[in-house]
Amino acid sequence: MAPPGKRPKPRLKVGVLISGRGSNLQALIDAATDRDYPAEIVLVISNRPEAAGLARAAGAGIAHRTIPHTDRQAFAAEADAALRQSGAELVALAGFMRILDTGFVESWRDQLVNIHPSLLPAFPGLHPQRQALAAGVRFSGCTVHFVRAEVDTGPIIAQAVVPVQPDDDEERLATRILAAEHRIYPMAVRLFAEGRLRILGNRVAISGAVPPEIALFNPTEALASSGV
Ligand code: GRF
Repeated sequence: MAPPGKRPKPRLKVGVLISGRGSNLQALIDAATDRDYPAEIVLVISNRPEAAGLARAAGAGIAHRTIPHTDRQAFAAEADAALRQSGAELVALAGFMRILDTGFVESWRDQLVNIHPSLLPAFPGLHPQRQALAAGVRFSGCTVHFVRAEVDTGPIIAQAVVPVQPDDDEERLATRILAAEHRIYPMAVRLFAEGRLRILGNRVAISGAVPPEIALFNPTEALASSGV
């Protein structure tokens, strides 16, 4: 809380693009209900009128609209105009299921972020959880990254690692990864809003970041019994 008599700091204005359920949008809405959170959502755009995320925006009193994606360039032009008008300083893709026009990506360069349910660069594109299971990896997770023209590429801001369980199917793995997404996306937006991210080529330096020191092993049982 800002001390009494002191005006609270202006918050970073965020526009969010969705296509469906909007649970990541909800995580950002929930984070921003704390007045000390350094960002606020000023506009939600969906390319689909039936997206459940639109009702979440409405419920939170956030401006929202549908822009049908009939044509990639027309969508980009309309979305860009709406976002500029809203004063958005960051655009967050949250389950936005269309490929963005490269002109749009360029004009929002370094102010456009995405969340993807895998440890990129592994498993970009559709059905990343299915891809992870098919590849037999022991860990998957999620990634928040700056957006570049090629799908699911760009400097990585944050990742969460989620172990694959022996009885996982696509849905079970997706559900556990989603829980991590809901924590990591608000954190990444906070880091951006606090001005703590510096893009150095394909890497992102985060001031004051503390990476974990431990390694994760999966499975762990054999290691424990052999004393490693
Ligand atoms: C999430 O898994 C996100 O990572 C991916 O699409 C899904 C959207 O879910 N890009 P929701 O609409 O945020 O619930």
